Amino acid sequence: MAEVSLSRITKNFGVVEILKGIDLTVADGEFCIFVGPSGCGKSTLLRVIAGLEESTSGALSIGGRDMTRTPPANRGVAMVFQSYALYPHMTVAENICFGMRMAKSPKAEISRRLARASAMLQLEPYLDRKPSQLSGGQRQRVAIGRAVVREPDVFLFDEPLSNLDAALRVQTRIEIGKLHQDLKSTMIYVTHDQVEAMTMADKIVVLNAGRIEQVGSPLDLYHRPRNMFVAGFIGSPKMNFLQVPGRVEGDRLEVHIDPAVAPLSFARPAGISGDGDFMLGIRPEHLVLGATGDSGLPVTLRLAERLGSETMLYGTLADGREINLRADGLSTARQGDLVKVQIPQAACHVFDKAGNTLVNGDLLRMEA
Ligand SMILES: Nc1ncnc2c1ncn2[C@@H]1O[C@H](COP(=O)(O)OP(=O)(O)OP(=O)(O)O)[C@@H](O)[C@H]1O
Ligand SMILES: [Mg+2]
Repeated sequence: MAEVSLSRITKNFGVVEILKGIDLTVADGEFCIFVGPSGCGKSTLLRVIAGLEESTSGALSIGGRDMTRTPPANRGVAMVFQSYALYPHMTVAENICFGMRMAKSPKAEISRRLARASAMLQLEPYLDRKPSQLSGGQRQRVAIGRAVVREPDVFLFDEPLSNLDAALRVQTRIEIGKLHQDLKSTMIYVTHDQVEAMTMADKIVVLNAGRIEQVGSPLDLYHRPRNMFVAGFIGSPKMNFLQVPGRVEGDRLEVHIDPAVAPLSFARPAGISGDGDFMLGIRPEHLVLGATGDSGLPVTLRLAERLGSETMLYGTLADGREINLRADGLSTARQGDLVKVQIPQAACHVFDKAGNTLVNGDLLRMEA
């Protein structure tokens, strides 16, 4: 069992508090992904779990044993960094086995682990090469191999794929997924990549300025963000936010988007006392581009990006508020067009002034 459990972890650098009380449990065998803006503390948190940084306060256990002050080598964790830092004068095999050699592991055991790791990572043809004779993706696999042979209870990855080109990224992402299936170890993985987060994670942790904003499955965070920060962070392109006046009518909350379209009417969320300004959230992929002459929200297009599989349309409402939508790859909409857009209410989110969620759409339930 290698459950990782953090209780009120803080970390100060000098007088600056970087981690502000992190409570988190990563279950045994779970693939957990940390996301958040640059500088929010993802790497610091990973390094605290690895033992490379000491937490300022709080407690940390791995596999049920308190590890708060345990040296890194005794935690049963292995970390893979963004920069893979292989020894240039050693072969792939020597790089992978270096740690075990230093620890004076028995020769047979070293061979067994090398054979297993190199088969798993498809490195067998390259074992005698030097790192300079490998592609970036192969080098990163060697770095992962170095972690695999340690047979850790917990793998920690800090943006391991961000130096790779798009195709290699996809390939290595799939390999890490397979590695997780084979080993069933607990994995904690930091990334900036939305696709990696959505596809690899059992659980995503959204961090912001040293705090956890929300923890959940990828689809949970996508459909049921707890606040505007998570709503805006998860999903690419980003969710649209429109400031809208709202009126309470009995047990309904009516939200007025634009004089040209009927207001949306939601069940009145608890705690709403009266009229006021709200934020309406809707993702670009959920807006529907109408045909010419249709009714709908009038949007003037400022830019159309044709990506082949889809067309991203960037537009403004009559009063200048910005709104973006994702249309079909064969859409003929052009810059300067005045188009009509449908807003499916089931895909709408409503946030209060403080950015907390009042309403999340119904899409998940409708699909279930
Ligand atoms: N050794 C250090 N001394 C002082 N400040 C540090 C140190 N390490 C990190 N920091 C600061 O802590 C904050 C969090 O850094 P961290 O590297 O954890 O961010 P991150 O979320 O991993 O960002 P990125 O996405 O850019 O990698 C940053 O403001 C950083 O400047
Ligand atoms: Mg980092």
